[in-house]
Amino acid sequence: MKDKIVELWPEILWIESKELQEKVIQCWNYALENSALNLDDLNTIPFSLLLKNCNITFINHKRTCVQLSVSIAKIMKQNFENEITIDMDNLIAGAILTDVGKLFEYEIIEGKLTTSHTGGLLRHPFSGTGIAMRFGLPAEVLHIIATHSQEGDTGKRTVESTIVHHADFVSFDPFKA
Ligand SMILES: [Fe+2]
Repeated sequence: MKDKIVELWPEILWIESKELQEKVIQCWNYALENSALNLDDLNTIPFSLLLKNCNITFINHKRTCVQLSVSIAKIMKQNFENEITIDMDNLIAGAILTDVGKLFEYEIIEGKLTTSHTGGLLRHPFSGTGIAMRFGLPAEVLHIIATHSQEGDTGKRTVESTIVHHADFVSFDPFKA
């Protein structure tokens, strides 16, 4: 399963810390083992149930978000030099885990993808944070998962979370009706 998760998410290998890589893989493994969705579904389901006629898959959208996050961070580090500190490992791990909780948001009823009971009560920033806590991800990564969506709008985001939040929405908003 570990190899399949890395195949699904090649960006896991961009994380320099092997320990952090392993924890990210454990989160995805746990979510897949306890989800109505399987690994192949992530390559076929649309990235949001909120969008009509969405042909962009879950994994395409999420990998785009990770890649955008890294590109934004690199340009900021290059141009702002010592004026900014960005932890790339935490940024990448957080971006890869933002939507791991979505695996608990869905269920398939009569072949149709719908929102699960758990998903209706606990959106993925909450369930994703819960999964990541289970595997000992650092608070900086939990923060990115917890605040990446509108749930984080009322508080202050770290620079890593700010980047991931905008990378997520810049690749979501253009598809809204
Ligand atoms: Fe999300």
